[in-house]
Amino acid sequence: MSKSYLAKGPATIIDTDAQAVDPTKKGERAAPVPKMLVGMDKYWSKDIATQEDEKIFAKTWLCAGRESDVQDVGDWFKFDIGYESIIVVKSTDGVIRAFYNVCQHRGAQLVVDDAGNASKFVCGFHSWTWMNTGELHRIADEETFASEMICDRPGLQPVALDMWSGFIFISLDPNPPPLHSYLTPLPEQLSAYRMEDMVLISDVCVEWNVNWKTALDAFMEGYHIHRRHPEGLGWIEDYHLQHDFFDNGHSRMILPVPVKSKRLKDQHALNDELRAMLSEVGLSPESYEGKAGLIRPALQQRKREWAKEVGLDFSGYSDSQLTDDWNYFVFPNMTFNAHAEGVLVMRFFPNESDPEKCYYHVSVLAHRVDDPNYRMPRYMGAPDIDLSGEVPRPPRIKLKHGEASLSQVLDQDAEFVPRVQKGMKSRGFKGQRLSHQEMRMQAFYEEYDRYMRGK
Ligand code: FES
Ligand SMILES: [Fe+2]
Repeated sequence: MSKSYLAKGPATIIDTDAQAVDPTKKGERAAPVPKMLVGMDKYWSKDIATQEDEKIFAKTWLCAGRESDVQDVGDWFKFDIGYESIIVVKSTDGVIRAFYNVCQHRGAQLVVDDAGNASKFVCGFHSWTWMNTGELHRIADEETFASEMICDRPGLQPVALDMWSGFIFISLDPNPPPLHSYLTPLPEQLSAYRMEDMVLISDVCVEWNVNWKTALDAFMEGYHIHRRHPEGLGWIEDYHLQHDFFDNGHSRMILPVPVKSKRLKDQHALNDELRAMLSEVGLSPESYEGKAGLIRPALQQRKREWAKEVGLDFSGYSDSQLTDDWNYFVFPNMTFNAHAEGVLVMRFFPNESDPEKCYYHVSVLAHRVDDPNYRMPRYMGAPDIDLSGEVPRPPRIKLKHGEASLSQVLDQDAEFVPRVQKGMKSRGFKGQRLSHQEMRMQAFYEEYDRYMRGK
């Protein structure tokens, strides 16, 4: 039986749509019971960070990058996770493979750059060389090795790899479950977005001065929107959200857009963001002055027509998917803010040596549109770029915490999370008291605890 949960409210959001998703695509697990989260040392303990490396990051499927980053034979990119480093490469036989980034002679890392193209990988220390299929090609001065030392002709050590919707996932578990079943039911629920057809238009990695879970927690609930992102209340219903819970720790929240927050007294007047949403699809804001409550259904209806005009395929979307923010969490460290036009993808990685730092990766995927004047919806905060014709892959931007602006919303979160990291260490803090609005955090930590107990 399917289950969906509102923090408070009479019906699920997708149940109220004229064109709704299949009800079987709703949540399948009961919501967790919110309770006090204790054990705050998981946010700073080195010992716990080491255990996470072994028990979580070495046991789960992790998104390493996009298939488009290994488009040509020989293309490779490096994916670092904790102290491990992985090479993902399109081998000469056309197969995409992953290997530990480590020389089999004395353990030097083979590549240091983020990406490149190579038919062979040559170690920078003593020149041992491997084909990009992982097969050993050459041992320098081979005659100086005893034959029993090298008779196994050591290849690069393989890592499990699978793909879904244009994303490459790897697992350090030698016998992981099939990726598709690990992700179920997300592949089916997200199929309408056709992320495999989207192009990468932004790729940023910021070293944040907080534990990876402190960062992730801030993106698992809508409770903080009214305080940290008050400008969003004019177009996001931040209170009556829908929460859904799936197997393997995955979850979802649906934030209705564009709907004025029930926290606002004036439910009718338009604001700049609502006017922009109407104009972007060719509706006249003047016709909706004083009628903000009519915009979401009007936009959903109009978007189907507008998509045909600009050449976007919106036929697979439910009404809700046309306007709302479908926000998914993929255990252990990935989120999607899925929108009809594009998707914001975030990943949270532990720092290799300091549990009070993490790597916050944020990227934007977009559907191409053959109109040079088309732009992604303004509220998504996506880069202002032309999506017609060939869209070049943007270089990865690497930043330190607070070094540069990402977007107003992300800056507001980035600015605040160090205060949470510091405060949670205080002797004056005993544990996190979670509400029904923070049930996804609860679900995450229940799965986290299962893995840490050696699931
Ligand atoms: S460590 Fe790589 S060739 Fe010696
Ligand atoms: Fe936020």
